[in-house]
Amino acid sequence: MNHVPAYSRITGTGSHLPEKILTNADLEKTLDTSDQWIRERTGIQQRHIAAEGETTGDLAYEAALKALQAADVSASELDMIVVGTTTPDLVFPSTACLLQSRLGANGCAAMDVNAACSGFIYALGVADNFIRSGAKQKVLVVGAETLTRMVDWTDRSTAVLFGDGAGAVVLEASEEPGVLSTHLHADGGYADLLAATAGVSKGFKAEERGGLKITMKGNEVFKVAVRTLGRIVTETLEAHGMVKSDIDFLVPHQANLRIINATAKALGMDMDQVVVTVDKHGNTSSASVPMALDVAVRSGQIKPGMTVLLEAFGGGFTWGSALIKM
Ligand code: ACO
Repeated sequence: MNHVPAYSRITGTGSHLPEKILTNADLEKTLDTSDQWIRERTGIQQRHIAAEGETTGDLAYEAALKALQAADVSASELDMIVVGTTTPDLVFPSTACLLQSRLGANGCAAMDVNAACSGFIYALGVADNFIRSGAKQKVLVVGAETLTRMVDWTDRSTAVLFGDGAGAVVLEASEEPGVLSTHLHADGGYADLLAATAGVSKGFKAEERGGLKITMKGNEVFKVAVRTLGRIVTETLEAHGMVKSDIDFLVPHQANLRIINATAKALGMDMDQVVVTVDKHGNTSSASVPMALDVAVRSGQIKPGMTVLLEAFGGGFTWGSALIKM
């Protein structure tokens, strides 16, 4: 029988952004919008855009290499790869399978998880549970997106928000704490507020890329996001008999600076205890949390031993959190 470890633990992080940057000034040239409106309402100044032919899998590969290097783990040691993405290279094989082959991790389990912006937290939850059951020991967990591929560049209410990128962590079985818990939720009743307009078995017309684009009732999404994120923080702390001040650092989903500020305020946290990347990355959906985590780890904002809260909210609606001892 497999040894059942007490915890899974993040042993390395990595992230990767496409080279091309699209600034608010660039968007002013093609849309009825302004740098001032975008900064005030979202906090976003610029976003990275995948080049022609550059895929979610390409971004995931670069982030994965950096995370493996940081963890000092070789791809052949991995026994599972979980990729959170809502913009896979292909419907199948999964982005995780394409990544597995490129990394040379052949034979290990590989799958994608689609939970929109909560994709990485969901993927982390899946990986953590596989490790704590004793079934897997070393898992690569990725959040990667090329969401700008389905942005309607004529719709100012969504075009200014999104960016592309990838983040990854290596999660390993450990007797030391690690991931303390993950909390995952969804409510499909909100599907109409934030959605892609086509999929493979609905609305797909290959000749006009299925009329595929993102639609969002941003104002209503905003209100539910703030309310829901407050609740998941309470749920996570209660699961450990902890109080708000026990959290040393917050890694929130990077959708909107106002939502991040509201969450930090509700937690009684100073903004120097919160990583902010939305200004430079835009909303990169499931790539946002692992990229922000990597930025905070590499900049030294997150230090070993800190108690860190990861949280996300996205289309579905889906939402989730992870409480982690670094
Ligand atoms: N430039 C200028 N004006 C704009 C723009 C723009 N880019 N976009 C909208 N406006 C206008 C609107 O038309 C509206 O004008 P009106 O008052 O004349 O009707 C006005 O600005 C206000 O629009 P709101 O939608 O009310 O603006 P709001 O303050 O709510 O900000 C935003 C919009 C940024 C989208 C915000 O609602 C938000 O961040 N929502 C949450 C997004 C989120 O968290 N999504 C979840 C993750 S994404 C995922 O899962 C894929």
